[in-house]
Amino acid sequence: MSKRRIVLGIVTAIAGLAALGIVAANPVHHAEVHTQSWSFNGFFGSFDQAQLKRGHVIYKDVCSGCHSMGLLAYRDLQDIGYTEDEVKAFAAEVQVEDGPNDAGEMFERPGRPSDRFKAPFPNEQAARAGNNGALPPDLSLMAKARAGAGFLGYDGADYIFSLMTMYKDPPADVTIPEGMHYNEAFKGHQIAMPPPLSDSEEAPLDQQAQDIAVFLTWAAEGNLEERHRTGVKAILFLVVFTLLAYATKRKVWANVH
Ligand code: HEC
Repeated sequence: MSKRRIVLGIVTAIAGLAALGIVAANPVHHAEVHTQSWSFNGFFGSFDQAQLKRGHVIYKDVCSGCHSMGLLAYRDLQDIGYTEDEVKAFAAEVQVEDGPNDAGEMFERPGRPSDRFKAPFPNEQAARAGNNGALPPDLSLMAKARAGAGFLGYDGADYIFSLMTMYKDPPADVTIPEGMHYNEAFKGHQIAMPPPLSDSEEAPLDQQAQDIAVFLTWAAEGNLEERHRTGVKAILFLVVFTLLAYATKRKVWANVH
């Protein structure tokens, strides 16, 4: 090893340790995350359709009041087990703007399965105006956007679960401005979103939080199951191929002594 490389190595190591030290020594409002065991994790992981449907209902009944999910179309819901007619009915619940018609005018019509999920606000300004100046982000890719965002590399679903369940009374030495809320999972602990879920007669908060986290993970990772299946096929192929190669080798070399 050359001298330069050794020096470079030492410098890198020191820089790395310093960076770790800065992260570890910074006590300012660490976001905390509770990890769950999710059905979709692991090599053979898959989504639970009943849970996805419950999560969709939560999105529709609660979150969609403030958050868009603009990358999803109503017909995507067939993936989680709804029939074509059910999907048509979901779509028809909203009025969407279409046009222009032959008279050059925009018009409203009931939603169709090919329409994207309707956004709650017509534009960003309206969304902010309705939320104390804060923008409720689009949730289509949220489970991915926050995946691994933490120092410990947690899962996006764990983050969403935690965000839903970690609203607390602020500690005595922390004052939360009007319109803000204290949440230990959120960076800085101050969030403009009021607690969207709470224990209800149908389901405890924890279960609702898991259901919505799973729905948002499905939305962000729609083809996860497909990918898992492809992975299994690829491995089966490799196993068969290896066996064949081995048999061929034995045969070719059988008469060589
Ligand atoms: C009353 C409006 C409102 C409702 C209802 C609501 N949210 Fe929010 N949400 C917000 C606002 C505003 C923000 C931005 C918060 C901020 O930046 O301080 C936000 C932010 C978020 C974030 C991003 C946090 C981050 O790390 O940046 C997630 C995830 C989220 N909401 C999920 C949900 C889910 C899931 C539901 C339904 C169970 C929901 N929200 C219901 C208003 C709402």
